[in-house]
Amino acid sequence: MDVVIVSDAAAVAEHAAERIADVVRTRPGAVLGVATGSSPLGSYAALAERVRSGSLDLGGVSAFALDEYVGLDPGHSESYRSVIRRTVTKPLGLDPERVHVPDGVAADLEAACADYERSIVEAGGIDLQLLGIGANGHIGFNEPSSSFASRTRVKTLAPRTRADNARFFASADEVPIHCVTQGLGTILDARELLLVAQGEEKAEAVAAMIEGPLAAMCPASALQLHRRATVVIDRAAASGL
Ligand code: GLP
Repeated sequence: MDVVIVSDAAAVAEHAAERIADVVRTRPGAVLGVATGSSPLGSYAALAERVRSGSLDLGGVSAFALDEYVGLDPGHSESYRSVIRRTVTKPLGLDPERVHVPDGVAADLEAACADYERSIVEAGGIDLQLLGIGANGHIGFNEPSSSFASRTRVKTLAPRTRADNARFFASADEVPIHCVTQGLGTILDARELLLVAQGEEKAEAVAAMIEGPLAAMCPASALQLHRRATVVIDRAAASGL
């Protein structure tokens, strides 16, 4: 695992955006794995800046999101379908037809999860997966105790994750209880992983991911198994190392 420690959140965003831009310049039809949450927002903004200035064209890129809430109307402003459209598809100029988000309202969720796995394979697999990390060490919505071999499936959100995400909803009760998430095995299939984290509230999870044992209780420690994983963090997120 490569660990890159930079001064602040802006430097994390620049570093991550440059790596993603490199991948797309080498392969204009690249398949990107995209994450929600606040951690990658700076990276998306830095990429959007490159698109605006004309130094990068993401028009041929396909994207797959990591996860989605179950039972939340896709039109709800906090559904990950809406969040990805607002923070990734539009500002980065991606073709909406090539941006995929798991279906959290399918009548048959299990079949929808299998379809999602299949569509990633049909797209040729993910070239680079961008990740954030939850304060409890989750990646995507793979909560502590997730299997390292897991595939896209329905999971129950941990109470801490629901509490962390309550800020996006009118009340804590509105946060969905279940989600669909790519599994750790799905994430590990990406050819390259790039995890970004900023701030002291992530320091404990970052230390467990990098220095702790490989453990299902810290899903992000799965990155230790990947041949090409880079963690880009600011000094505050690195303070537990
Ligand atoms: C969310 C997402 C994750 C994200 C994490 C951290 O619930 N499902 O993909 O990495 O929690 O969020 P944030 O970056 O806002 O701290």
